[in-house]
Amino acid sequence: MNNRSIVSIADYSREKIMQLLERTALFEQQPNRRLLEGKVVATLFFEPSTRTRLSFETAALRLGARVIGFTDPKVTSSSKGETLKDTIKMVSNYADVIIMRHKLEGAALYASEVTDVPIINAGDGSNLHPSQTMLDLYSIWKTQGRLDDLNIYMVGDLKYGRTVHSLLMSMRKYNPTFHFIAPKELEMPDEYKMYCRKEGIRYVEQTDFTEDTISDADILYMTRVQRERFSDLMEYERVKDAYILRADMLGKCRENMRILHPLPRVNEIEQEVDDSPHAYYFQQAQNGLYARETLICQALGIEP
Ligand code: CP
Repeated sequence: MNNRSIVSIADYSREKIMQLLERTALFEQQPNRRLLEGKVVATLFFEPSTRTRLSFETAALRLGARVIGFTDPKVTSSSKGETLKDTIKMVSNYADVIIMRHKLEGAALYASEVTDVPIINAGDGSNLHPSQTMLDLYSIWKTQGRLDDLNIYMVGDLKYGRTVHSLLMSMRKYNPTFHFIAPKELEMPDEYKMYCRKEGIRYVEQTDFTEDTISDADILYMTRVQRERFSDLMEYERVKDAYILRADMLGKCRENMRILHPLPRVNEIEQEVDDSPHAYYFQQAQNGLYARETLICQALGIEP
């Protein structure tokens, strides 16, 4: 991997995370700065996206860079059989940094091995989503005033959800207690539970999702059941409505509790929850702009 790529942030130290959070806070105060004048940022989205692509592109534009890229691989030569390696080598001729989303796990790591241009992983299959994790950490830090010693409930699709996998790994130095709430078919994969055991991270698996079960949560991290990851759509139909958060379930929750969701949501959070002071998912998405300004600068070695 070339050394400026951001494929995962799981190995970042506490000091490094804090530095990135503080830079993100500076970008929140001042998002328009000409730090990337003359740079070209490429966004290669082999899978659909609203927030990640648009906030990365907005981040690049607000910092003075120009943006090239595609939102659908069908309009590129990959539809004629061009390999990912060749696509990355070509775009490396044009851009200073490549932001890529791909359906294959490990695609970003692979891309970072075939080019010297920094790659930022914008999501690789069910594996990792480090820029989402950065904005999640920022949202947690901002709303809780700390990252240490939090009770974090992860709810929904814990099998395919790259955002929960990424967040889990990045929280390992902060003594979290995780509560995994998922239907059997979508439970947290063994490799992540083994990771927790190896790293000494406490976790509890549960299937109940009630006002009482979430009453001691600091963070309630809801996720969408991802239809696009199922090979058997009957199975999707069976589990898609397993966990739905309603406003009447928030009566006993802690005052500091915030509801996060990487978005998009389908129906796992009822619309009436949006009016609750605990709902934070739209601000969370807004934080994505500032976190991605930080990460583009980091990949390019630019001190904000
Ligand atoms: N959270 C997230 O990755 O959203 P998009 O799929 O819209 O980019």
